[in-house]
Amino acid sequence: MKKEAQVSRSGRFTQTAAQELVDFTESISFDWRLWRQDIIGSMAHARMLNKIGVLKKAELDEIIDGLESIGDEIDQGQFEWKPELEDVHMNIESALTERAPAGAKLHTSRSRNDQVALDMRMWLRDEIIRVIDEIQALQSELVALGKRSFPTPIPGYTHLQRAQPVPFAHHLLAYVEMLDRDAQRFSDTFDRVNVCPLGSGALAGSTLKLNRDMVAIELGFVDSEGSPRLTQNSMDAVSDRDFVVEFMSAAALTAVHLSRLSEDLILWSSAEFNFIKISDAYTTGSSLMPQKKNPDLAELTRGKSGRVIGNLVSLLTLLKGLPMTYNRDLQEDKERLFDGSDTLHGCLRITAAMIANTEIRPENCQSAANDATLLATDLADYLVNIKVPFREAHHIVGAVVALAEEKQKPLDKLSLRDLKSVDSRFKKDALSVFSLDRALEERKTIGSPGLREVKKQLRKWQSRLNNERQ
Ligand code: ARG
Repeated sequence: MKKEAQVSRSGRFTQTAAQELVDFTESISFDWRLWRQDIIGSMAHARMLNKIGVLKKAELDEIIDGLESIGDEIDQGQFEWKPELEDVHMNIESALTERAPAGAKLHTSRSRNDQVALDMRMWLRDEIIRVIDEIQALQSELVALGKRSFPTPIPGYTHLQRAQPVPFAHHLLAYVEMLDRDAQRFSDTFDRVNVCPLGSGALAGSTLKLNRDMVAIELGFVDSEGSPRLTQNSMDAVSDRDFVVEFMSAAALTAVHLSRLSEDLILWSSAEFNFIKISDAYTTGSSLMPQKKNPDLAELTRGKSGRVIGNLVSLLTLLKGLPMTYNRDLQEDKERLFDGSDTLHGCLRITAAMIANTEIRPENCQSAANDATLLATDLADYLVNIKVPFREAHHIVGAVVALAEEKQKPLDKLSLRDLKSVDSRFKKDALSVFSLDRALEERKTIGSPGLREVKKQLRKWQSRLNNERQ
Protein backbone atom coordinates (compact mmCIF):
# COMPACT_ATOMS: atom_id res chain seq x y z
CA MET A 1 0.00 0.00 0.00
CA LYS A 2 1.29 3.41 -0.89
CA LYS A 3 2.23 5.94 1.76
CA GLU A 4 -0.72 8.22 0.89
CA ALA A 5 -3.12 5.62 2.20
CA GLN A 6 -1.87 6.23 5.71
CA VAL A 7 -3.24 9.74 6.25
CA SER A 8 -6.34 8.79 8.20
CA ARG A 9 -4.68 5.68 9.69
CA SER A 10 -1.38 7.14 10.85
CA GLY A 11 -0.58 6.58 14.51
CA ARG A 12 -3.42 4.23 15.31
CA PHE A 13 -2.98 1.45 12.77
CA THR A 14 -0.19 -1.09 12.57
CA GLN A 15 -1.26 -2.59 9.23
CA THR A 16 -1.85 -0.87 5.93
CA ALA A 17 -5.30 -1.02 4.36
CA ALA A 18 -6.16 -4.13 2.36
CA GLN A 19 -6.63 -3.53 -1.35
CA GLU A 20 -10.19 -4.86 -1.12
CA LEU A 21 -10.94 -2.30 1.54
CA VAL A 22 -9.60 0.48 -0.67
CA ASP A 23 -11.65 -0.71 -3.62
CA PHE A 24 -14.79 -1.06 -1.58
CA THR A 25 -14.60 2.19 0.36
CA GLU A 26 -13.26 4.66 -2.19
CA SER A 27 -15.60 7.40 -3.33
CA ILE A 28 -13.17 9.42 -5.43
CA SER A 29 -14.53 7.78 -8.58
CA PHE A 30 -17.69 9.85 -8.08
CA ASP A 31 -17.15 12.50 -5.39
CA TRP A 32 -14.35 14.16 -7.41
CA ARG A 33 -17.27 16.23 -8.71
CA LEU A 34 -17.23 18.15 -5.43
CA TRP A 35 -13.68 19.42 -5.98
CA ARG A 36 -14.57 23.04 -6.63
CA GLN A 37 -16.72 23.30 -3.52
CA ASP A 38 -14.09 21.46 -1.49
CA ILE A 39 -11.38 23.92 -2.50
CA ILE A 40 -13.51 27.02 -1.95
CA GLY A 41 -14.65 25.67 1.43
CA SER A 42 -11.05 24.94 2.44
CA MET A 43 -9.96 28.45 1.50
CA ALA A 44 -12.67 29.95 3.70
CA HIS A 45 -11.75 27.64 6.57
CA ALA A 46 -8.07 28.58 6.19
CA ARG A 47 -8.85 32.31 6.25
CA MET A 48 -10.82 31.79 9.43
CA LEU A 49 -7.97 29.79 10.99
CA ASN A 50 -5.68 32.70 10.19
CA LYS A 51 -8.12 35.15 11.75
CA ILE A 52 -8.25 33.21 15.02
CA GLY A 53 -4.47 32.80 15.14
CA VAL A 54 -4.07 29.13 14.16
CA LEU A 55 -2.43 29.95 10.83
CA LYS A 56 0.20 32.64 10.26
CA LYS A 57 -0.31 34.94 7.28
CA ALA A 58 2.53 33.25 5.40
CA GLU A 59 0.99 29.85 6.07
CA LEU A 60 -2.39 31.03 4.88
CA ASP A 61 -0.87 32.39 1.66
CA GLU A 62 0.92 29.11 1.09
CA ILE A 63 -2.32 27.19 1.56
CA ILE A 64 -4.34 29.48 -0.70
CA ASP A 65 -1.69 29.30 -3.44
CA GLY A 66 -1.50 25.54 -3.10
CA LEU A 67 -5.28 25.13 -3.31
CA GLU A 68 -5.39 27.44 -6.31
CA SER A 69 -2.77 25.46 -8.17
CA ILE A 70 -4.58 22.20 -7.36
CA GLY A 71 -7.81 23.73 -8.66
CA ASP A 72 -6.09 24.74 -11.91
CA GLU A 73 -4.70 21.25 -12.38
CA ILE A 74 -8.06 19.60 -11.78
CA ASP A 75 -9.71 22.04 -14.15
CA GLN A 76 -7.21 21.20 -16.87
CA GLY A 77 -7.58 17.47 -16.27
CA GLN A 78 -3.98 17.18 -15.06
CA PHE A 79 -4.62 16.19 -11.48
CA GLU A 80 -4.09 12.58 -10.54
CA TRP A 81 -6.89 11.23 -8.37
CA LYS A 82 -5.77 8.40 -6.11
CA PRO A 83 -8.29 5.81 -4.93
CA GLU A 84 -6.04 4.89 -2.01
CA LEU A 85 -6.76 8.38 -0.67
CA GLU A 86 -10.42 7.48 -0.53
CA ASP A 87 -12.25 10.65 -1.39
CA VAL A 88 -12.05 14.14 -2.82
CA HIS A 89 -11.27 15.66 0.58
CA MET A 90 -8.22 13.47 1.29
CA ASN A 91 -6.97 13.71 -2.28
CA ILE A 92 -6.94 17.48 -2.20
CA GLU A 93 -5.58 17.77 1.35
CA SER A 94 -2.80 15.33 0.65
CA ALA A 95 -1.78 17.08 -2.59
CA LEU A 96 -1.83 20.38 -0.72
CA THR A 97 0.39 19.15 2.09
CA GLU A 98 2.87 17.82 -0.48
CA ARG A 99 3.27 21.25 -2.01
CA ALA A 100 2.62 23.38 1.11
CA PRO A 101 3.71 22.02 4.51
CA ALA A 102 1.25 24.38 6.22
CA GLY A 103 -1.47 22.25 4.60
CA ALA A 104 -1.00 19.95 7.60
CA LYS A 105 -2.74 22.59 9.71
CA LEU A 106 -5.74 23.00 7.42
CA HIS A 107 -7.79 20.23 8.98
CA THR A 108 -7.67 21.91 12.40
CA SER A 109 -11.17 21.80 13.93
CA ARG A 110 -12.57 20.27 10.79
CA SER A 111 -13.67 16.74 10.02
CA ARG A 112 -14.59 15.23 6.72
CA ASN A 113 -18.00 14.92 8.30
CA ASP A 114 -18.72 18.64 8.34
CA GLN A 115 -16.60 19.11 5.22
CA VAL A 116 -18.66 16.76 3.09
CA ALA A 117 -21.90 18.27 4.39
CA LEU A 118 -20.56 21.68 3.39
CA ASP A 119 -19.47 20.54 -0.08
CA MET A 120 -22.83 18.92 -0.75
CA ARG A 121 -24.74 22.00 0.33
CA MET A 122 -22.61 24.24 -1.88
CA TRP A 123 -22.91 21.86 -4.83
CA LEU A 124 -26.67 21.73 -4.41
CA ARG A 125 -27.04 25.49 -4.35
CA ASP A 126 -25.53 25.69 -7.85
CA GLU A 127 -27.61 22.75 -9.02
CA ILE A 128 -30.85 24.30 -7.80
CA ILE A 129 -30.14 27.54 -9.64
CA ARG A 130 -29.47 25.56 -12.82
CA VAL A 131 -32.58 23.42 -12.46
CA ILE A 132 -34.83 26.42 -11.93
CA ASP A 133 -33.32 28.04 -14.99
CA GLU A 134 -33.99 24.93 -17.08
CA ILE A 135 -37.54 24.63 -15.78
CA GLN A 136 -38.18 28.20 -16.87
CA ALA A 137 -36.65 27.53 -20.29
CA LEU A 138 -39.07 24.64 -20.73
CA GLN A 139 -41.99 26.75 -19.54
CA SER A 140 -41.04 29.37 -22.13
CA GLU A 141 -41.11 26.75 -24.90
CA LEU A 142 -44.52 25.52 -23.75
CA VAL A 143 -45.86 29.07 -23.77
CA ALA A 144 -44.35 29.66 -27.22
CA LEU A 145 -46.01 26.52 -28.60
CA GLY A 146 -49.22 27.63 -26.90
CA LYS A 147 -49.01 30.92 -28.77
CA ARG A 148 -48.22 29.22 -32.08
CA SER A 149 -51.23 26.94 -31.61
CA PHE A 150 -53.67 29.60 -30.44
CA PRO A 151 -56.71 29.55 -30.73
CA THR A 152 -56.92 25.96 -32.06
CA PRO A 153 -59.06 23.75 -29.82
CA ILE A 154 -58.71 20.07 -28.98
CA PRO A 155 -60.94 17.83 -26.92
CA GLY A 156 -59.97 17.86 -23.26
CA TYR A 157 -60.00 14.35 -21.80
CA THR A 158 -60.95 12.67 -18.56
CA HIS A 159 -60.45 8.90 -18.29
CA LEU A 160 -58.83 9.35 -21.72
CA GLN A 161 -62.37 9.81 -23.08
CA ARG A 162 -63.29 12.99 -24.90
CA ALA A 163 -64.82 15.33 -22.33
CA GLN A 164 -65.02 19.04 -23.17
CA PRO A 165 -63.26 21.27 -25.69
CA VAL A 166 -60.28 23.37 -24.64
CA PRO A 167 -57.75 25.43 -26.56
CA PHE A 168 -54.60 23.36 -27.15
CA ALA A 169 -52.76 26.17 -25.36
CA HIS A 170 -54.82 25.60 -22.22
CA HIS A 171 -53.59 22.02 -22.04
CA LEU A 172 -49.98 23.21 -22.40
CA LEU A 173 -50.48 25.89 -19.77
CA ALA A 174 -51.51 23.18 -17.30
CA TYR A 175 -47.90 21.95 -17.50
CA VAL A 176 -46.58 25.48 -17.16
CA GLU A 177 -48.44 25.69 -13.83
CA MET A 178 -47.09 22.31 -12.64
CA LEU A 179 -43.57 23.34 -13.56
CA ASP A 180 -44.03 26.61 -11.73
CA ARG A 181 -44.80 24.74 -8.52
CA ASP A 182 -41.77 22.54 -9.18
CA ALA A 183 -39.56 25.61 -9.45
CA GLN A 184 -41.05 26.92 -6.20
CA ARG A 185 -40.28 23.63 -4.47
CA PHE A 186 -36.66 23.89 -5.58
CA SER A 187 -36.49 27.46 -4.42
CA ASP A 188 -37.93 26.50 -0.99
CA THR A 189 -35.35 23.74 -0.82
CA PHE A 190 -32.60 26.27 -1.49
CA ASP A 191 -33.57 28.02 1.71
CA ARG A 192 -32.87 24.94 3.81
CA VAL A 193 -29.78 23.94 1.80
CA ASN A 194 -28.25 27.35 2.31
CA VAL A 195 -27.13 26.84 5.91
CA CYS A 196 -23.44 26.44 6.80
CA PRO A 197 -22.47 23.27 8.71
CA LEU A 198 -18.73 24.00 8.95
CA GLY A 199 -17.52 24.21 12.54
CA SER A 200 -19.50 21.14 13.57
CA GLY A 201 -16.34 19.03 13.38
CA ALA A 202 -16.80 15.28 13.51
CA LEU A 203 -19.94 15.69 15.61
CA ALA A 204 -19.03 17.78 18.65
CA GLY A 205 -17.61 21.05 17.32
CA SER A 206 -14.22 22.13 18.59
CA THR A 207 -12.51 23.45 21.69
CA LEU A 208 -10.94 26.18 19.56
CA LYS A 209 -12.77 29.48 19.25
CA LEU A 210 -13.88 29.16 15.66
CA ASN A 211 -15.46 32.07 13.85
CA ARG A 212 -18.31 30.28 12.11
CA ASP A 213 -19.95 33.54 11.03
CA MET A 214 -16.90 34.53 9.04
CA VAL A 215 -16.83 31.24 7.12
CA ALA A 216 -20.57 31.32 6.44
CA ILE A 217 -20.47 34.88 5.13
CA GLU A 218 -17.48 34.19 2.88
CA LEU A 219 -19.25 31.15 1.42
CA GLY A 220 -22.52 32.97 0.84
CA PHE A 221 -24.52 31.20 3.53
CA VAL A 222 -26.43 34.36 4.37
CA ASP A 223 -30.03 35.51 4.61
CA SER A 224 -31.55 38.38 2.63
CA GLU A 225 -30.02 40.87 5.09
CA GLY A 226 -26.56 39.37 4.72
CA SER A 227 -26.59 37.73 8.17
CA PRO A 228 -24.87 34.35 8.40
CA ARG A 229 -26.99 31.21 8.44
CA LEU A 230 -25.42 28.48 10.59
CA THR A 231 -26.54 24.99 11.52
CA GLN A 232 -27.51 25.08 15.20
CA ASN A 233 -26.64 21.58 16.33
CA SER A 234 -23.31 19.96 15.52
CA MET A 235 -24.73 16.43 15.60
CA ASP A 236 -27.61 17.30 13.32
CA ALA A 237 -25.27 19.12 10.95
CA VAL A 238 -23.09 16.07 10.23
CA SER A 239 -25.79 13.41 10.16
CA ASP A 240 -28.54 15.24 8.34
CA ARG A 241 -29.13 14.66 4.66
CA ASP A 242 -32.73 15.78 4.53
CA PHE A 243 -31.72 18.65 2.27
CA VAL A 244 -30.58 16.03 -0.27
CA VAL A 245 -33.87 14.16 0.11
CA GLU A 246 -35.78 17.38 -0.34
CA PHE A 247 -33.91 18.15 -3.53
CA MET A 248 -34.54 14.65 -4.85
CA SER A 249 -38.16 14.81 -3.88
CA ALA A 250 -38.59 18.04 -5.86
CA ALA A 251 -36.63 16.39 -8.69
CA ALA A 252 -38.81 13.27 -8.64
CA LEU A 253 -41.99 15.29 -8.79
CA THR A 254 -40.63 17.39 -11.64
CA ALA A 255 -39.62 14.19 -13.44
CA VAL A 256 -43.14 12.84 -12.94
CA HIS A 257 -44.58 16.00 -14.47
CA LEU A 258 -42.21 15.61 -17.42
CA SER A 259 -43.28 12.01 -17.72
CA ARG A 260 -46.94 12.99 -17.94
CA LEU A 261 -46.15 15.63 -20.54
CA SER A 262 -44.17 13.01 -22.46
CA GLU A 263 -47.14 10.66 -22.37
CA ASP A 264 -49.37 13.36 -23.85
CA LEU A 265 -46.82 14.06 -26.59
CA ILE A 266 -46.57 10.35 -27.37
CA LEU A 267 -50.35 10.01 -27.63
CA TRP A 268 -50.72 13.20 -29.64
CA SER A 269 -48.10 12.12 -32.16
CA SER A 270 -49.76 8.73 -32.75
CA ALA A 271 -51.88 8.20 -35.86
CA GLU A 272 -54.90 7.77 -33.59
CA PHE A 273 -54.67 11.36 -32.34
CA ASN A 274 -52.38 12.97 -34.89
CA PHE A 275 -52.55 16.35 -33.14
CA ILE A 276 -48.84 17.16 -33.35
CA LYS A 277 -45.78 16.69 -35.48
CA ILE A 278 -42.41 16.43 -33.77
CA SER A 279 -39.70 17.41 -36.25
CA ASP A 280 -37.49 14.71 -37.77
CA ALA A 281 -34.46 15.94 -35.85
CA TYR A 282 -36.20 15.02 -32.60
CA THR A 283 -37.70 11.68 -33.57
CA THR A 284 -36.11 8.31 -34.29
CA GLY A 285 -36.56 5.63 -36.92
CA SER A 286 -37.11 1.91 -36.70
CA SER A 287 -34.38 -0.55 -37.66
CA LEU A 288 -36.98 -2.74 -39.35
CA MET A 289 -40.04 -0.70 -40.33
CA PRO A 290 -39.08 2.03 -42.78
CA GLN A 291 -42.24 4.06 -42.25
CA LYS A 292 -41.79 4.53 -38.51
CA LYS A 293 -41.11 7.83 -36.79
CA ASN A 294 -40.90 7.27 -33.08
CA PRO A 295 -41.11 9.75 -30.18
CA ASP A 296 -38.16 8.14 -28.38
CA LEU A 297 -37.13 11.31 -26.58
CA ALA A 298 -40.50 11.53 -24.89
CA GLU A 299 -40.45 7.80 -24.13
CA LEU A 300 -37.00 8.00 -22.58
CA THR A 301 -38.01 11.01 -20.52
CA ARG A 302 -41.01 9.02 -19.30
CA GLY A 303 -38.72 6.08 -18.53
CA LYS A 304 -36.01 8.12 -16.84
CA SER A 305 -38.52 9.55 -14.37
CA GLY A 306 -38.39 6.07 -12.81
CA ARG A 307 -34.69 6.54 -12.12
CA VAL A 308 -35.25 9.80 -10.32
CA ILE A 309 -38.03 8.27 -8.22
CA GLY A 310 -35.72 5.33 -7.51
CA ASN A 311 -32.99 7.68 -6.33
CA LEU A 312 -35.42 9.36 -3.94
CA VAL A 313 -36.49 6.00 -2.51
CA SER A 314 -32.83 4.91 -2.19
CA LEU A 315 -31.98 8.06 -0.24
CA LEU A 316 -34.89 7.66 2.12
CA THR A 317 -34.04 4.01 2.68
CA LEU A 318 -30.41 4.93 3.26
CA LEU A 319 -31.33 7.26 6.11
CA LYS A 320 -34.11 5.23 7.66
CA GLY A 321 -32.17 3.11 10.13
CA LEU A 322 -29.11 5.26 10.80
CA PRO A 323 -28.19 6.04 14.38
CA MET A 324 -26.75 9.45 15.12
CA THR A 325 -24.48 10.86 13.82
CA TYR A 326 -22.26 10.38 10.79
CA ASN A 327 -22.15 6.83 9.45
CA ARG A 328 -20.26 5.75 6.38
CA ASP A 329 -23.56 4.71 4.81
CA LEU A 330 -23.99 8.40 4.06
CA GLN A 331 -21.33 8.19 1.38
CA GLU A 332 -23.93 6.32 -0.66
CA ASP A 333 -25.96 9.53 -1.00
CA LYS A 334 -23.68 10.95 -3.67
CA GLU A 335 -24.22 8.63 -6.59
CA ARG A 336 -27.97 8.82 -6.04
CA LEU A 337 -27.83 12.60 -5.91
CA PHE A 338 -25.58 12.98 -8.95
CA ASP A 339 -27.57 10.51 -11.00
CA GLY A 340 -30.92 12.06 -10.07
CA SER A 341 -29.71 15.54 -10.77
CA ASP A 342 -28.00 14.66 -14.09
CA THR A 343 -31.06 12.75 -15.22
CA LEU A 344 -33.38 15.62 -14.43
CA HIS A 345 -31.17 18.15 -16.24
CA GLY A 346 -31.10 15.90 -19.30
CA CYS A 347 -34.87 15.44 -19.31
CA LEU A 348 -35.60 19.14 -18.86
CA ARG A 349 -33.25 20.17 -21.63
CA ILE A 350 -34.36 17.57 -24.17
CA THR A 351 -38.04 18.22 -23.51
CA ALA A 352 -37.57 21.95 -24.07
CA ALA A 353 -35.71 21.29 -27.33
CA MET A 354 -38.37 18.84 -28.48
CA ILE A 355 -41.22 21.26 -27.74
CA ALA A 356 -39.37 23.99 -29.64
CA ASN A 357 -39.37 21.59 -32.59
CA THR A 358 -43.00 20.54 -32.40
CA GLU A 359 -45.94 21.95 -34.33
CA ILE A 360 -49.61 21.19 -34.01
CA ARG A 361 -51.77 19.89 -36.86
CA PRO A 362 -54.57 22.46 -36.60
CA GLU A 363 -57.08 20.73 -38.91
CA ASN A 364 -56.89 17.46 -36.98
CA CYS A 365 -57.16 19.22 -33.62
CA GLN A 366 -60.07 21.32 -34.81
CA SER A 367 -61.98 18.43 -36.29
CA ALA A 368 -61.54 16.30 -33.14
CA ALA A 369 -62.84 19.21 -31.07
CA ASN A 370 -65.77 19.74 -33.42
CA ASP A 371 -67.74 16.98 -31.76
CA ALA A 372 -71.06 18.21 -30.41
CA THR A 373 -71.17 15.62 -27.63
CA LEU A 374 -68.33 17.56 -26.03
CA LEU A 375 -70.90 20.32 -25.47
CA ALA A 376 -73.48 18.18 -23.64
CA THR A 377 -72.48 19.81 -20.36
CA ASP A 378 -73.03 23.23 -21.94
CA LEU A 379 -76.57 22.12 -22.78
CA ALA A 380 -77.09 21.25 -19.10
CA ASP A 381 -75.77 24.74 -18.22
CA TYR A 382 -78.39 26.15 -20.63
CA LEU A 383 -81.10 24.45 -18.55
CA VAL A 384 -79.54 25.67 -15.32
CA ASN A 385 -79.75 29.20 -16.73
CA ILE A 386 -83.50 28.74 -17.10
CA LYS A 387 -83.64 27.62 -13.45
CA VAL A 388 -83.66 23.85 -13.87
CA PRO A 389 -81.79 22.24 -10.93
CA PHE A 390 -78.47 20.85 -12.21
CA ARG A 391 -79.20 17.22 -11.24
CA GLU A 392 -82.41 17.37 -13.25
CA ALA A 393 -80.63 19.12 -16.14
CA HIS A 394 -77.97 16.37 -16.13
CA HIS A 395 -80.69 13.75 -16.38
CA ILE A 396 -82.51 15.58 -19.20
CA VAL A 397 -79.37 16.03 -21.28
CA GLY A 398 -78.54 12.35 -20.70
CA ALA A 399 -81.89 11.55 -22.26
CA VAL A 400 -81.14 13.92 -25.17
CA VAL A 401 -77.84 12.12 -25.79
CA ALA A 402 -79.66 8.77 -25.71
CA LEU A 403 -82.19 10.10 -28.21
CA ALA A 404 -79.43 11.27 -30.56
CA GLU A 405 -77.86 7.85 -30.35
CA GLU A 406 -81.17 6.18 -31.06
CA LYS A 407 -81.74 8.42 -34.09
CA GLN A 408 -78.10 7.92 -35.10
CA LYS A 409 -77.63 11.65 -35.37
CA PRO A 410 -74.91 13.90 -33.97
CA LEU A 411 -76.20 15.85 -30.98
CA ASP A 412 -76.19 19.16 -32.84
CA LYS A 413 -78.27 17.74 -35.67
CA LEU A 414 -81.27 17.11 -33.44
CA SER A 415 -84.21 19.44 -34.09
CA LEU A 416 -85.85 21.70 -31.53
CA ARG A 417 -88.81 19.33 -31.69
CA ASP A 418 -86.50 16.44 -30.71
CA LEU A 419 -85.26 18.46 -27.73
CA LYS A 420 -88.78 19.41 -26.74
CA SER A 421 -89.83 15.76 -26.90
CA VAL A 422 -87.42 15.22 -23.99
CA ASP A 423 -88.27 18.41 -22.09
CA SER A 424 -90.68 21.15 -23.10
CA ARG A 425 -88.58 23.85 -21.47
CA PHE A 426 -86.05 23.78 -24.34
CA LYS A 427 -86.42 26.93 -26.49
CA LYS A 428 -85.06 27.70 -29.92
CA ASP A 429 -81.85 29.22 -28.53
CA ALA A 430 -81.00 25.82 -27.01
CA LEU A 431 -79.51 24.73 -30.32
CA SER A 432 -77.08 27.65 -30.34
CA VAL A 433 -75.31 25.89 -27.44
CA PHE A 434 -73.72 23.60 -30.02
CA SER A 435 -71.26 26.18 -31.23
CA LEU A 436 -67.65 25.51 -30.36
CA ASP A 437 -66.81 29.22 -30.72
CA ARG A 438 -69.56 30.14 -28.32
CA ALA A 439 -68.47 27.45 -25.86
CA LEU A 440 -64.97 28.88 -25.76
CA GLU A 441 -66.27 32.44 -25.71
CA GLU A 442 -68.58 31.83 -22.76
CA ARG A 443 -65.97 30.45 -20.39
CA LYS A 444 -64.84 33.61 -18.69
CA THR A 445 -63.94 32.76 -15.12
CA ILE A 446 -60.34 32.74 -13.94
CA GLY A 447 -58.58 29.51 -14.85
CA SER A 448 -61.16 28.49 -17.44
CA PRO A 449 -60.34 27.53 -21.03
CA GLY A 450 -62.20 30.52 -22.52
CA LEU A 451 -60.21 32.07 -25.35
CA ARG A 452 -59.95 35.44 -23.67
CA GLU A 453 -58.75 33.91 -20.41
CA VAL A 454 -56.24 31.61 -22.13
CA LYS A 455 -54.87 34.53 -24.14
CA LYS A 456 -54.46 36.48 -20.92
CA GLN A 457 -52.64 33.56 -19.30
CA LEU A 458 -50.32 33.16 -22.30
CA ARG A 459 -49.45 36.84 -22.09
CA LYS A 460 -48.98 36.73 -18.34
CA TRP A 461 -46.64 33.75 -18.52
CA GLN A 462 -44.69 35.16 -21.41
CA SER A 463 -43.94 38.40 -19.63
CA ARG A 464 -43.31 36.70 -16.28
CA LEU A 465 -40.85 34.26 -17.80
CA ASN A 466 -39.16 36.99 -19.81
CA ASN A 467 -38.64 39.01 -16.63
CA GLU A 468 -37.44 36.08 -14.57
CA ARG A 469 -35.07 34.79 -17.20
CA GLN A 470 -33.29 38.10 -17.81
N1 ARG B 1 -16.36 10.22 1.58
C1 ARG B 1 -17.06 10.41 2.81
C2 ARG B 1 -18.56 10.57 2.55
O1 ARG B 1 -18.90 10.95 1.49
C3 ARG B 1 -16.56 11.61 3.53
C4 ARG B 1 -16.77 11.58 4.98
C5 ARG B 1 -15.93 10.52 5.58
N2 ARG B 1 -15.99 10.56 7.00
C6 ARG B 1 -15.55 9.55 7.77
N3 ARG B 1 -15.67 9.68 9.04
N4 ARG B 1 -15.05 8.46 7.24
O2 ARG B 1 -19.38 10.33 3.41
